[in-house]
Amino acid sequence: MKVPLYEKIWMWASGVLVVAFVVTIVVGLAGSALQPPSHVETIDPTKVWNDPRFKQRGATPTAAGTTVVMIAMMFAYQPAEVRVTAGKPVTFRLTSSDVTHGFSIVGTNGNTMVVPGYISQFTTVFRTPGEYLIVCNEYCGLSHHLMFAKLIVEEGRAQP
Ligand code: CUA
Repeated sequence: MKVPLYEKIWMWASGVLVVAFVVTIVVGLAGSALQPPSHVETIDPTKVWNDPRFKQRGATPTAAGTTVVMIAMMFAYQPAEVRVTAGKPVTFRLTSSDVTHGFSIVGTNGNTMVVPGYISQFTTVFRTPGEYLIVCNEYCGLSHHLMFAKLIVEEGRAQP
């Protein structure tokens, strides 16, 4: 029986799709896709308040920009307000002292899960000065909806 070329193309195309799906599943499993960012760095969730990496909380200027260290807990962030500079890289380092929380900076691309036992880290740049709301977007208990913090992005000095 002679298979028309048109049929052959579709047979090959569907074969490629099946392989692509299998590869996606295998890569997802092998890469532990459900880990938070920077999941190589672990922490004892019962000792976060005394951990040297979380002693100095809030915004700390660095050579490149700012590092912001925060602890998420039911039902707040500590500190509840941070100030950073517009146009400069901001690296967030977050962990939880209890359950899984979210960390979503509304209106920006800043968003991560905060999973107990891990330090979540990401770097972003805020171009537009202003006040941004940080909300928890992972259900974490009865007062989940009250869990928020404030990010203040201040005008940077004139770039050389
Ligand atoms: Cu923390 Cu929802």
